[in-house]
Amino acid sequence: MFKSILAIATSALVLASAGAYANQESGPIVIKFSHVVADDTPKGQGAILFKKLAEERLPGKVKVEIYPNSTLYGDANELEALSNNEVQLLAPSLAKFEKYTKQLQVFDLPFLFDDLEAVNRFQKRAKGRQLLRSMEDHNIVGLAYWHNGMKQLSATKPLLVPADAGGLIFRIQPSSVLEAQFSQLGATAMVLPFAEVFDALKSGKVQGAENPWSNIYSKKLHTVQPYITETNHGALDYMLVSNPRFWYGIPHHIRVELEGVIDEVTYEVNRQAEAANQADRKRIEAAGSTITTLTDEQRDAWRQAMQPVWQQFESVIGEDVIKAAQTVNRKKRD
Ligand code: LMR
Repeated sequence: MFKSILAIATSALVLASAGAYANQESGPIVIKFSHVVADDTPKGQGAILFKKLAEERLPGKVKVEIYPNSTLYGDANELEALSNNEVQLLAPSLAKFEKYTKQLQVFDLPFLFDDLEAVNRFQKRAKGRQLLRSMEDHNIVGLAYWHNGMKQLSATKPLLVPADAGGLIFRIQPSSVLEAQFSQLGATAMVLPFAEVFDALKSGKVQGAENPWSNIYSKKLHTVQPYITETNHGALDYMLVSNPRFWYGIPHHIRVELEGVIDEVTYEVNRQAEAANQADRKRIEAAGSTITTLTDEQRDAWRQAMQPVWQQFESVIGEDVIKAAQTVNRKKRD
């Protein structure tokens, strides 16, 4: 009896403090949405559409402030800021959650997904949906997956066969899988925040990188990387996240409306991401960059060269997760 009274009192207290957290006393609920890319990218456009729809549907009740281009928080501190409720929405790339769950590293496994359509199918199926909740113990609630696109390899020299990458230093996001990917190629990986990539490439601190077309174009990376190989070797996608104390503290009717907005925005971002990346690919080509597309045989050689990385991370990521990801490819393999 005493225990249940205590439990009721404790949950009432949690709810009351959560409500105050979200309501911020009076006035609209302010949602700060911080991210590291330009407005003119799939994530940047998603943030803008979220603000528009949320403020239209919930006038006076919700105010969304967007901070693009690492202007408020960057890779080094945004997740900590989320847990301290200094920011309420983020959409870090899936590679940036390694500290909180190893399962999401499945998205980094090189050449696991054939294309963005396969990534999309995985995200929609049960295992992919489960991963949205894989960080709840760390006070991170996953609200949706947003696409950017498949990554391409760029460098100061042409990269046609895996051995071409040997000896170069590549900038990576903070992911052990990505580190292993480059060491498997005989290259070195250097973790750098996204905001520092252009300068690092320009100064020669690193000689290569991996990015989707939209990030390459919007940050002018092609101007300091003369050779780009269209490898489509891994996904650079995002998880829209909040902290549960804030999110579940939002009054129910407002949260339901916001969840509807997120569904609409997610649909739009994911519908347009591939076309936006292809448009940026054309712009990069028009600007004079050398883009080499791998033939099926060349891509298979890269895929084969990466098998030890899959093996290395199989037990870390989980055999079940990797198996589920492998079933989404449509290409027949022997
Ligand atoms: C990167 O660091 O390369 C990306 O995660 C940036 C982004 O958010 O697209």
